[in-house]
Amino acid sequence: MASVDVPVALLGYGTVGAAVNRLLVEGADEIERATGHKLRVTRALVRDTGKERDYPVADGVLTTDFRSVLEDDSIALVAEVMGGVEPTGGYVLDLLRSGKPVVSANKQLLARRSADLFEAASEGGVQLRFEASVCAAIPVIKVLRESLVVTNVHRVLGIVNGTTNFILTRMEEGADYEEALAEAQRLGYAEADPTDDVSGADAAAKMAVLATVAFGSRVELADVAYEGIEGIKPHHVAAARELETVVRLVGSATLVDGAVDVRVGPAFVDGHHPLAAVVGAFNAVMLQGDAIREITLEGPGAGGIETASAVVADMVSVLGTTGTGFLQNDACWRSLSKLPPGDLPGAFYVHLEVADRPGVLAHVADCFAEQDVSIAQLAQHLVNGTAALDLVTHEAPGGRVEAALSSAAALAEVRSRPEALRMITERGF
Ligand code: NAP
Ligand code: HSE
Repeated sequence: MASVDVPVALLGYGTVGAAVNRLLVEGADEIERATGHKLRVTRALVRDTGKERDYPVADGVLTTDFRSVLEDDSIALVAEVMGGVEPTGGYVLDLLRSGKPVVSANKQLLARRSADLFEAASEGGVQLRFEASVCAAIPVIKVLRESLVVTNVHRVLGIVNGTTNFILTRMEEGADYEEALAEAQRLGYAEADPTDDVSGADAAAKMAVLATVAFGSRVELADVAYEGIEGIKPHHVAAARELETVVRLVGSATLVDGAVDVRVGPAFVDGHHPLAAVVGAFNAVMLQGDAIREITLEGPGAGGIETASAVVADMVSVLGTTGTGFLQNDACWRSLSKLPPGDLPGAFYVHLEVADRPGVLAHVADCFAEQDVSIAQLAQHLVNGTAALDLVTHEAPGGRVEAALSSAAALAEVRSRPEALRMITERGF
């Protein structure tokens, strides 16, 4: 097979971009054996060409001029590993419209602009792939779009942010939150602005992308209710341990009677659940569907080389499928309604700080009873005249648990805002 030289460009040459170039150079023989193509980075867009790089490139490859990528007809394919929504979104739209296929690692862009992006890809007659935007090295988009093409996936449950999983597991070992976050940043797991990680925005964007592909109906970042791990304190980690669970930032996308619910938040995960065993910067995604029952994919969820593996795989897929009619077009073929946020049922862990007086427990229990929420477990800890109540509810719609917490918060004996976290106990297939 005659080898074809394929000049490619990168938008961004940071943690992921430099690792993509490294894999293209070091894996050149494997790529050539598999595809008959030699991929060569001829241009990489950066902000500062003078900066020291992890994996240096030849003189003249780095540029600050986007047009030198857009207008170079020899460039057959572009990997967007730059991040951000603008100017990145405008660049990707221009590239697609001009007929250049793009692969992207950018979940924030995909979760906000996928309709425009796929319209531009269709206009340009080219592919847009985005495997690396979700769970770094784990090939979940390809599995959903190709391997499970005839499976009706109705639930996706996952740990989809490496930084927060790293922080939570370090906290279980006794580390301090701030120290663990700084370590995650040093290791290249965190976003340029780590607020996206700890606030849950990164995981929310990934769940929007996963839900869109899994259900074939567009879910955008704005449709995802999310909460991060900023409020997780050592007492949550200790309570979770007592209940034989662990605290994890869990994303869920669920089809309930034809309506979609997508959310991200900290949850107490049963110690026997597959997600409880996911530690460090690893991610896992459980796919539940009619024919498959359940498939769990687990692997590195962050990091330069791990993400680059998915970027390079997408580049190879584009080259391997171009001209075959196997286009990775917009996954959306229907428009499902969104489930009202309070309707998704679940069991909840609830923490309340109350005065240690007779009758308090009965008043708190009344608040739950009025909302028809049943209590499954209750533990009380006494500290300096204040009682900390940790309770676990039976399954109930989240909105009714919230209403019970609001009534409890109004009780004179309740000393701080009650908190509730979802419990992930059963596998649900
Ligand atoms: P990074 O290290 O901050 O690299 C960003 C690169 O883009 C840098 O080379 C930067 O140039 C360039 N850049 C940023 N804004 C630019 C602009 N306006 N014009 C020109 N160049 C610009 O980020 P990263 O960690 O590689 O992440 C890149 C993308 O991959 C993001 O979308 C991220 O969400 C995604 N991702 C990252 C990981 C991970 O573990 N790191 C995993 C999965 C997905 P300079 O170098 O000159 O500053
Ligand atoms: N900051 C992200 C994370 C990178 O920690 O999961 C992978 O998308």
